[in-house]
Amino acid sequence: MAENVSERIEELYRPSAEVMAQAHVADWEGMAARAGKDFVGFWEEKARELIDWHSPWTKVLDDSNKPFYKWFTGARTNIVYNAIDRHLKGAYRNKLALIWEGESGETRTFSYHALNREVSKFASVLKSLGVKKGDRVTIYMGRVPELPIAMLAVAKIGAVHSVVYGGFSTEALHGRIDDSQSRVLITCDGAFLAGKIIELKRIVDEALKRSAAVEHVVVVKRTCQEVMMEQGRDMWYHDLMGLPIADPKCPTEIVDAEDPLYMLYTSGTTGKPKAIVHSHGGYQVGVATTLKYVFDLKDEDRWWCAADPGWVTGHSYIVYGPLLLGATGFMYEGAPTYPYPDRWWQLIEKYGINVFYTAPTAIRGLMRWGEAWPNRRDLSSLRLLGSVGEPINPEAWRWYHRVIGKERCPIMDTWWQTETGAFQITPLPSMPLKPGSGGRPFFGQEADIYGEDGTPVKDGEEGFLVLKRPWPAMMRTIYNDPDRYVQQYWSKYPGVYLTGDSAKRDKDGYYWIIGRVDDVIKVSGYRLGTAEVESALVSHPSVAEAAVIGLAHEVKGTAIHAYVLLRQGFEGSPALAEELKKHVGAEMGPIAKPEDVSFVASLPKTRSGKIMRRVLKARAQGLSEGDISTLEE
Ligand code: WT7
Repeated sequence: MAENVSERIEELYRPSAEVMAQAHVADWEGMAARAGKDFVGFWEEKARELIDWHSPWTKVLDDSNKPFYKWFTGARTNIVYNAIDRHLKGAYRNKLALIWEGESGETRTFSYHALNREVSKFASVLKSLGVKKGDRVTIYMGRVPELPIAMLAVAKIGAVHSVVYGGFSTEALHGRIDDSQSRVLITCDGAFLAGKIIELKRIVDEALKRSAAVEHVVVVKRTCQEVMMEQGRDMWYHDLMGLPIADPKCPTEIVDAEDPLYMLYTSGTTGKPKAIVHSHGGYQVGVATTLKYVFDLKDEDRWWCAADPGWVTGHSYIVYGPLLLGATGFMYEGAPTYPYPDRWWQLIEKYGINVFYTAPTAIRGLMRWGEAWPNRRDLSSLRLLGSVGEPINPEAWRWYHRVIGKERCPIMDTWWQTETGAFQITPLPSMPLKPGSGGRPFFGQEADIYGEDGTPVKDGEEGFLVLKRPWPAMMRTIYNDPDRYVQQYWSKYPGVYLTGDSAKRDKDGYYWIIGRVDDVIKVSGYRLGTAEVESALVSHPSVAEAAVIGLAHEVKGTAIHAYVLLRQGFEGSPALAEELKKHVGAEMGPIAKPEDVSFVASLPKTRSGKIMRRVLKARAQGLSEGDISTLEE
């Protein structure tokens, strides 16, 4: 990781003739120049090419109320119509939409016809439970086919899904249900992961003791252990789907292009996680266009995005993107190393996956098991690889390229965020690649690196990464908090979108992402807020105050380190440290568990009482504490 960026920027991987011959866009420079001259025209063209509309827009981009941009205003649509309904005519009807494999090896497949039946039946069930257009529905499940089915069913009737990652625990779930005011919750009895059961329903029961708004809980049976079913509130999915109310004829609710499709909670600078809102019209255009060009998806491809549907990567590129393009997607339930470290490679071989998309942390984790595991599998079906979630270190890039891609497959290191909905800075298959660089702004986008004062810095210098043009898949607002939307993303530098990342641009116009500049920590690519982890710590009876920071970790990229000030009468011990880690795991989720807990007598604070995490971090790294003139004595 210690390599110097300036040495690396010269390392170029040029696309092979084979890749060039297949690329949807061979002349990316020409296309970028055209889209750069008229980005609104570019998006209008893609909206016509890739998406069907029930009635046309009156305006492609309405920027009369910045930064509340609107796209395709006046148009009528529903993303589910484009993801499923339109494929039911003709050849796609019998094509596989989804192939799924469980951790223990069972397989389920859904043609577009079968997926539609399941989605329509469940949409009818939701209607009969009283779910209406605009209502929020929380989904908290393992990686089973019913997860995308539930999302699509909610969207089909014009309601708004709020998926909570199945790896989160009680308080994280409770906070997200409460904020969204969902009256219906869809979950599973449990989820299989790495040979163990995550007791989702038990966590739901705990969370619902803390919130009151939920009236109905629909439970998918997966792990079959005994669970509590509360009379009048909890119902089994399979029971409901067997009733006449599960009508397979359910019309797709045609909505306004700007009507909300989903909300997704993500951690920001301060306080509680906030719900990012995406809409039907622009989002489908952005997701379909980026997936088509960046991963060069072809009709006959088998695509595997190995993320969890509970994060934005899964929303855009497991559920909506592939279906919009009429592709065949693959989804795997379990852990990459279970029962053996070649599980993923075995699945690539078994299903003949052509394009594979994962995160640097997974690559680093699998690298540690050595080359023999991938080498005993036939990976020759692969054509393109992808990476997302955090900067990929060049060693991991080169390993992925050589051992998995056999030096044939370009790696698309896609930079984007929950807020952006779709890739913003990315390579293209026809573009020369630099290991560790996210490439260049996608068609129609323009990025820059600003100094503190808002002037662009010189090439090679670090600064704040900003996006300068609106794009169709952009977030529309923060649910119930439009002021925060303006304040957090559009206020530091008026007129441009602040990403929260620091980055550099090299002389060739390639971007190098360095990391978050706010209080967001990326643990194994998962985005966590320091505030959320700290409040989980403080909810333990022994803790008076807590501060957490992220420090470099070989596999996780960054790991959480906690500093805890105990209440009177408590004494720090290894046993208490363990208990606090467990407590954070139970409140927030296993991914948020601190790597270690240090007991301290005081925390560095400003005179106004803000914890100076920067100082903690510098101390932990043995670096100078920098400017501490605001430090309280
Ligand atoms: C943050 C957004 C998992 C889908 C996108 C994550 C970091 C994302 C890259 C990349 C370097 C990356 C950034 C960004 N990030 N992709 N290719 N190279 N950093 O969505 O959870 O909202 O996180 O992830 O720091 O701001 P997210």
